[in-house]
Amino acid sequence: MIKLSKFSSIFVANWKLNGNLSFINQYLDSLKVNPSQLNCVIICPPTIYLNNFNSILKNCYLGSQDISKFESGAYTGEISSKSLNDFGVKFCIVGHSERRQYFNENNNDIKNKASKLIKNNIIPIICIGESLKQKNENKTIEVLSYQINNSIPSESNQHNTIIAYEPIWAIGTGLTPTIDEIENLHYLIRKNNIKIENFKILYGGSVNLQNSREIINLTNVDGALIGGASLKIDEFNQMIA
Ligand code: 13P
Repeated sequence: MIKLSKFSSIFVANWKLNGNLSFINQYLDSLKVNPSQLNCVIICPPTIYLNNFNSILKNCYLGSQDISKFESGAYTGEISSKSLNDFGVKFCIVGHSERRQYFNENNNDIKNKASKLIKNNIIPIICIGESLKQKNENKTIEVLSYQINNSIPSESNQHNTIIAYEPIWAIGTGLTPTIDEIENLHYLIRKNNIKIENFKILYGGSVNLQNSREIINLTNVDGALIGGASLKIDEFNQMIA
């Protein structure tokens, strides 16, 4: 398993359902990752393209966007954590709000997925986040704590699991919490949930070239989970530089 403690910042490119072969070739030709050992850059393309990255990626890591909660068996269409190993995958996003919302994933599914990943030496990036309605009802902390308590498996620790806080209302909208709100929420996530106090916690939701430096430099933010802006290679190169 990758040693997380050596990194000061972690950047995860979540391509979602975007990209094709020619896009990948152009992207990889242009991607510039500084060989500094301090930044961890993780590219998560659609699963079908994982093998196009295996052995080509230099100075960065390959991540999956999701995985089956099952190990093997009669589960048509599923892909197991174990098979990700064959393609050099070191990280996997689980519990993204789009999976929770459109594919009815619940905290228990997410816990099972994370557990299988850890067993197969892959680091889960477990996503948590509140909706706009929950935020407006002042339920953010309650919602996040519930997700933390119910989606993080008992075997998770600061060495084998990453948390990503993504307010649902900030994803793909261009809206973000203020810098102070992000720092304060990340602080509260740690302090209110002792078992994850020392975990790497990433922020996600409309991270772009204009706001990334300020967000990444916050004391309680260990990196960023980036959607749309990670597809723009020039912008992404500057963010990770
Ligand atoms: P955007 O950066 O496009 O808002 O997406 C965030 C996200 O969902 C990353 O997982």
